[in-house]
Amino acid sequence: MNNKIKKILKKKNKSKIVCLTAYSKNIAEIIDDHADIVLVGDSLGSVLYNYDTTRKVNLNMMIEHTKSARMGVKKSLLVIDLPYNTYRSKSEALKSSKKAIKETKCDAVKVEGGTRVKEIVKHLVKNRIPVLGHIGVTPQTTKGKFRSKGKNESEKRKLLKDAQDLEQSGAFGIVLECIYSDISKQITNSINIPTIGIGASVNCDGQVLVTDDLIGLNETKFRFVKKFGNVKKNIKVAITKYKNSVKQKKFPSKKNSY
Ligand code: KIV
Repeated sequence: MNNKIKKILKKKNKSKIVCLTAYSKNIAEIIDDHADIVLVGDSLGSVLYNYDTTRKVNLNMMIEHTKSARMGVKKSLLVIDLPYNTYRSKSEALKSSKKAIKETKCDAVKVEGGTRVKEIVKHLVKNRIPVLGHIGVTPQTTKGKFRSKGKNESEKRKLLKDAQDLEQSGAFGIVLECIYSDISKQITNSINIPTIGIGASVNCDGQVLVTDDLIGLNETKFRFVKKFGNVKKNIKVAITKYKNSVKQKKFPSKKNSY
């Protein structure tokens, strides 16, 4: 098993796992010093391309962004999201994963779904592809508005079974997206692999957020997002200074000229 994955597994019940998204080298490089996992998520479809669904993201887009992120990631585990319609069968999943890993040199793939994808996960793991699972709200297959999961007993039972099936299939961790606190606690306590929450409470073994959201570059209204910075404001300040310097003929100065 990959040493980075071993280190992440050891954190369960000891210290929190930090995971963030990156779609390019410069951001990935900053995150690499602070995160255990860098995820090239298919959220890039909405964040960068303004798509109304992640279903429009394809494998080549994911590969190009992961190649860029790879240049910035030296220490963290680099995970690529397999996009919609690239893992409908065991053979398709293996083909997509092999292509992604070969072309990007990433460490692992992430797939959405629990019990539904257990045979696919098993097949990937058997073929030495490390897999991160993703249950709860799964944007690739959610139609309409996202609604948090695990409110009633049947949803709770399903989520628990999804998590247990993923663990049994050999996934090294599971992203829990928009899951009620009590069931994310129950899932986290009932499996031996780490859970990484997004909108799934502090009860998870780690947390993930979309970096563009937390740094205040991407406008989003999801309740689970906290804005930890205001990069957009800083960019505006720099761009205004540049514009004024150009207009006032202060830039470029002799120092910036040949
Ligand atoms: O696509 C993504 O960025 C994700 C995370 C939000 C978990 O799946």
